[in-house]
Amino acid sequence: MTTLVVRPSGVSGTCTVPGSKSISHRALMLGAMAKGTTRINGLGLGADVAATIDCLRAFGVDIPADGSLIASGGIDAWTAPATTLDCRNSGTTMRILAGLAARLTFTTTLDGDGSLRRRPMERVVDPLRILGAHVRATDGHPPIVIEGGDLKGTTVDLPVASAQVKTAAIFAGLGASGQTTVREPAPSRDHTERMLRSLGAPISESFGETHDVTVSAFEVPPFETTVPGDVSSAAFLVTAAVLTGDAQVDDVGVNPTRMSFVDVVREMGGDVSIEVLRDELGEPIGSLVARHSPLVGVAVDGSDPGIHDELPLIALLATQAEGETTVKGAGELRLKESDRIDSVVRGLRALGAEIHELVDGFVVRGPTKLRGANVDPSGDHRIAMMLAVAGLVADGETRIDDFECSGVSWPGFEATLAKLGADV
Ligand code: S3P
Repeated sequence: MTTLVVRPSGVSGTCTVPGSKSISHRALMLGAMAKGTTRINGLGLGADVAATIDCLRAFGVDIPADGSLIASGGIDAWTAPATTLDCRNSGTTMRILAGLAARLTFTTTLDGDGSLRRRPMERVVDPLRILGAHVRATDGHPPIVIEGGDLKGTTVDLPVASAQVKTAAIFAGLGASGQTTVREPAPSRDHTERMLRSLGAPISESFGETHDVTVSAFEVPPFETTVPGDVSSAAFLVTAAVLTGDAQVDDVGVNPTRMSFVDVVREMGGDVSIEVLRDELGEPIGSLVARHSPLVGVAVDGSDPGIHDELPLIALLATQAEGETTVKGAGELRLKESDRIDSVVRGLRALGAEIHELVDGFVVRGPTKLRGANVDPSGDHRIAMMLAVAGLVADGETRIDDFECSGVSWPGFEATLAKLGADV
């Protein structure tokens, strides 16, 4: 077990972050669906993306360890995996791949680690059944067994706004007869829609009481792309900068459906600016610049799927903000890699924060002088990295146990913090 030790210090400077995890999973799966050779530069190489690469290889797709070059005969040439596919800690791998497995006439079994086995899967099983696949979960959880083929397009109402589930249904729809409309209760991140549109897929969207995405059968062409930096990874550096100094993160994806965190930090008084510089496969790319700023507490709508991954960082910022910050409507947080309401509250409370748990969120009163302590990230990459940033503003030493779990999305996070001047 690796323990990361963080001492009070500040960050300053310019850096980049690993390729977007969401876009990496999608680019790999789209490349594996295409007949021909696809080149992906700048892929995020955390353990989650590695899980997707290994699962795609099990279908006979030829991909090197760094994921850069995918040679596939197209999804119709995929072969039955010899064993159960191990999605490890990656909910995105399991849920999206289920949408592809639904198109295959053989049986695919998807499983994962202890954390993934606790995460709900009816949300993806039900839509795929509606499209005609035979899918079985185990009491609503992994392992899931999928026998697909002969899908028929229809309207699929998703029970929750989830980009993973939406993508599974869209990817299934690309192999179904007729039109498939995927209806989500609120717009979740739209990387899939953007990538498909820029690859020429027949896709349309409508925004009203629900967000509806309609697709029909499409053969994905091979492509070349460079994955932008992960804005959810950049969020750790933005937080460190707002709390202790400054940071400029270059080449980061600034997709509008991923900007809720920046909006909330600005509402708290944080000095964060975005410069959009170019476009890649439908995704805007630019720089994020953040500077040390005095903060005030705010009320956050935790039902916005665009902020879920960053709510642990909002909790940390709130400990240093004047007044009360309330996050409500964020029940989905309990269903992530850990119960993130519980792990945020326990982690920050161990550092002396005044934070109270709600059924669907938390309340933080600030500002509080945090005190270094031994903290447990609950095996969750985002909690481990949030606690490391907390250590920058805590007295004494903050020791984050099991820090290797941060490698799920960002192996080497601590090296980037150190490069920016943090004492880690
Ligand atoms: C993701 C969607 C989000 C997010 C996850 C990645 C994706 O989950 O929390 O880290 O790449 O589609 P939801 O499916 O709950 O929106």
